[in-house]
Amino acid sequence: MDKPLLQLDNILTGYGTIPVLHGIDLTLAEGDIYALLGPNGGGKSTLLKVCSRQIEPWKGNVKVAGRSMEGVAPEELAKVGVCTIPEGKGIFPNLTVSENLVMMTHSGTDLATIESITYDRFPQLSNKRKQLAGTLSGGEQQMLSMARALGTNPKILLLDELSMGLAPIIVKELYEIVAQLAEQGIGVLVVEQFARTVLGVATRAGILINGKIISEGSPNELEDQLSDAYLGTKGKI
Ligand SMILES: Nc1ncnc2c1ncn2[C@@H]1O[C@H](COP(=O)(O)OP(=O)(O)OP(=O)(O)O)[C@@H](O)[C@H]1O
Ligand SMILES: [Mg+2]
Repeated sequence: MDKPLLQLDNILTGYGTIPVLHGIDLTLAEGDIYALLGPNGGGKSTLLKVCSRQIEPWKGNVKVAGRSMEGVAPEELAKVGVCTIPEGKGIFPNLTVSENLVMMTHSGTDLATIESITYDRFPQLSNKRKQLAGTLSGGEQQMLSMARALGTNPKILLLDELSMGLAPIIVKELYEIVAQLAEQGIGVLVVEQFARTVLGVATRAGILINGKIISEGSPNELEDQLSDAYLGTKGKI
């Protein structure tokens, strides 16, 4: 069998001396959209930060296509095909839209390709080339960060709270793009606190509470368990 795109083996890590993740195992295959769900403070963003190498595992291993990421710098990850869109979008707020696209060429894709992918997909951004990214609307900023995912040709996409602060219609559009990327064979690990839209496109899902994945399964199986897991936030998911 092919090696999984992304594999976490028994990850233990945290901040300072305080552990946050307590033994996470997770695999992501080509075409998977894995929805990682769970309440505030459960460790979802921490888990993505381990995958994007912003924090080191204390124990355990992160592998990309079978290769250990130990010693690989975060800025090298784009070259092995890992694109991360962190909470807060991962764009450069003090640079213009055009300049942000220039920054994306560091992954090796040329500017003309990135520009055409971005402005074809998000025509709204083409009128705003000279605008500082930090002054774009929330939805436009998220479009710009998605443009990075589209333009840099990743194999693995790590998304943290894509829906944060956005209108449901925009969230739906963004997840349609995510689904198209997965159809092309990209593996997507997506964190969301509120689950409904992401479960509509996910192929697998897990619930992370207190640093442990307490349940994993198909989106349907997980949807049934979510109201119990969130205790009282049933109306929101
Ligand atoms: N830089 C940091 N330094 C110290 N503790 C941190 C840091 N970042 C996160 N934590 C703590 O780690 C735990 C997990 O946080 P994390 O951000 O991974 O949660 P989350 O599941 O993404 O939550 P949310 O849904 O609110 O985004 C929390 O208790 C948080 O306070
Ligand atoms: Mg988070």
